[in-house]
Amino acid sequence: MTILVTGGAGFIGSNFVLDWLADGDEPVVTVDKLTYAGNLRNLTSLDGDSRHHFIKAGIEDKAAIAAALDRYRIRAVVNFAAETHVDRSIDNPRAFVETNVVGTVALLEAVTAHWRHLLPAERETFRFLHISTDEVFGALGPGDPPFSETTPYRPNSPYAASKAAADHLVRAFGATYRLPVLISNCSNNFGPYQFPEKLIPLVVSRALAGETLPIYGDGRQVRDWLYVGDHCRALRLLLAQGRPGEHYVIGGDSERANIEVVREICAILDRLCPRADHRSYAAQIAFVTDRPGHDRRYAIDAGKLKAEFGWRPQEGFAAALEKTVRWNLDHADWLAAVQSGDYRRWIAAHYV
Ligand code: NAD
Ligand code: DAU
Repeated sequence: MTILVTGGAGFIGSNFVLDWLADGDEPVVTVDKLTYAGNLRNLTSLDGDSRHHFIKAGIEDKAAIAAALDRYRIRAVVNFAAETHVDRSIDNPRAFVETNVVGTVALLEAVTAHWRHLLPAERETFRFLHISTDEVFGALGPGDPPFSETTPYRPNSPYAASKAAADHLVRAFGATYRLPVLISNCSNNFGPYQFPEKLIPLVVSRALAGETLPIYGDGRQVRDWLYVGDHCRALRLLLAQGRPGEHYVIGGDSERANIEVVREICAILDRLCPRADHRSYAAQIAFVTDRPGHDRRYAIDAGKLKAEFGWRPQEGFAAALEKTVRWNLDHADWLAAVQSGDYRRWIAAHYV
């Protein structure tokens, strides 16, 4: 049997595909539209590997998805494909509705049609795992309990609202058509292959380029950082053992204010790659205008995942951050390749 991974040329998707094939031999079909965020270089280590197939298509292309599902006798779909950057959703919300909502419903229709034609035993074990975000729950105050599977949805950004709409559609396909769906809502991931529009790789690349390190507002917004390998391990468990119809939240037990994260990155760079003038990279920090509707705090209580599967984040934040910074330093060619075209236009329009 074979699994189909959408958005598998993006950050988390490519980590998932690489980890999946490192962990076992079940083949993977990666379907990706290769938007600005999709990068086949992330998967070059699989070139010539007969267990991996790549199809360039959007999730909204029902004919292409149907053909892939049929041709490879797909037994599970993992849906990572999405527009993912909150700041871009503020500039262009419609693109987020097109992929995250309209695209997801098209994918669900194609998958449901495929699933209906499977043998009864195959229908039983089939899974549609939808990757969502903690941003659907809105913002927490400093003393609020963390998000869990029972937290009501209250999305604040167009990105979060589009992901919330997608989650509702996935759940509705489970309830209405009995498609065996699972939804995971995870916190901020970091690690190799993250596109340098997101805070951690953005700060590393701008620090090395001698540019300002932009901190929105007062920098006291809190995120719960999850190393991407820990996330992918949780997703493999959900595919194998998760109960259809259920939600699972996934977090790293690592709440940090943005300013602390940026200072930690600067301290790592000061050790690994000191500036020529021997001043700290922290001298490049610049407080800039806040993101509109900026959520103050996210935090996750992953108690359900821990209790049901014994999952725990294995990576401590400090060590995983250093590993991530080192990865960025060691992959200057990867960074240079993605910092072209659309990336340059985005940075020029968004940062002074
Ligand atoms: P990313 O932006 O790095 O990658 C997204 C991938 O999806 C890219 O390869 C892109 O080409 C592809 N894609 C975009 N539109 C598509 C379409 N219409 N059809 C097919 N492919 C398309 O994103 P990421 O950070 O890897 O996030 C992956 C998923 O995880 C998303 O659904 C996101 O909402 C969710 N998520 C991410 C985080 C995080 O911290 N990065 C946290 C929680 C949830
Ligand atoms: O919580 C999960 C979400 O995490 C995912 O669903 C999103 O796809 C992913 O992009 C991420 O969203 P955030 O908005 O939290 O991530 P980002 O890296 O854009 O920003 C992290 C924090 O850093 C946030 O509070 C905004 C702040 N920030 C970000 C950038 C890009 C800055 O202060 N300056 C910046 O230049």
